[in-house]
Amino acid sequence: MKTLLIGEIENSAHKKLKEHTYLRQITNEEFAATTIFPEVEVVVLRTYTQLKEEEIEKMPKLKFVVSCSVGTNNLDILQLQEKGIELIHCPGTNANSVAEHTLYLILSLLREDSKRPFAELKGKTVGIVGFGYIGKLVAQKLKGFDAKLIAFDVIEQEPKILQELQVTMKDFDSVLRTADILTIHVPLNTHTHNLINATGFERMKQDAFFINTSREEVINEPDFIDEINEGKFRGIGLDVCSKDFMQKVDCGKNILVTNHVAAQGEESFKEMCNAPIDKLLAKITQDTL
Ligand SMILES: NC(=O)c1ccc[n+]([C@@H]2O[C@H](COP(=O)([O-])OP(=O)(O)OC[C@H]3O[C@@H](n4cnc5c(N)ncnc54)[C@H](O)[C@@H]3O)[C@@H](O)[C@H]2O)c1
Repeated sequence: MKTLLIGEIENSAHKKLKEHTYLRQITNEEFAATTIFPEVEVVVLRTYTQLKEEEIEKMPKLKFVVSCSVGTNNLDILQLQEKGIELIHCPGTNANSVAEHTLYLILSLLREDSKRPFAELKGKTVGIVGFGYIGKLVAQKLKGFDAKLIAFDVIEQEPKILQELQVTMKDFDSVLRTADILTIHVPLNTHTHNLINATGFERMKQDAFFINTSREEVINEPDFIDEINEGKFRGIGLDVCSKDFMQKVDCGKNILVTNHVAAQGEESFKEMCNAPIDKLLAKITQDTL
């Protein structure tokens, strides 16, 4: 199958793809600059590549989209469905890396606070918004710190899991109001765009810690910047934020920013790239039998 790889994936996944398909690799810039890929049947990409109507139309023979990322907000899923193009992705494959990164941000912020003695996790209320793969793993890792864990999700959760993870589900408002540390793990979609805006920030406790490793658009950044300037937060940890945010905010003030790297733990990155490629290769082999 004629396969287009946009950007970079993990080495062993790349090797498999090269062995089993006719592979061409290009950069995001080359993809944007080219108007048509007449032969491409499979496109392999990561979250940094937008594949909306305009880009889908560049590949008239496209049969499979393989996403080596978690989170599908870069893709027009409706268009893919309408055109009968199959999406292959592997939710949950990078959850451990993102959950560990969240813990890293929380613990670093508690320690780097200019106030001494610094804050401890024990006894703090941690609010988890979005209780899917990552939210649950964050809870699992926090369990040993004797923090109080509360969470909000739009999906009802299994009581057995909640009991095991020692998490109490609350409504959104209660999580915002009671969390000493708030951490966001929702997907970006039309419902979660600007999920936390001025109203949400106002509801949060003064001197709360705020962590976002999901997507920058889940936060209303102008409202967020206003709250930061008014001294609302004791610490902020972000794996995702805009260039504009970086220019407007003084990151020395217990604001820790990483450059969208939370998913790139060695094992998780390998799994996140290999799992969808394996699925693709299994399908191709089946189809050609
Ligand atoms: N920083 C990174 O590198 C990185 C890596 C992986 C994932 N992510 C982001 O994290 C998100 C979550 O990943 P996941 O693997 O846990 O996904 P997931 O689908 O397992 O979990 C998301 C949860 O959010 C819930 N949700 C949806 N809308 C909500 C709302 N309005 N309020 C509360 N909960 C809501 C869903 O019901 C689901 O349980 C991804 O969609 C992606 O955008 C970021």
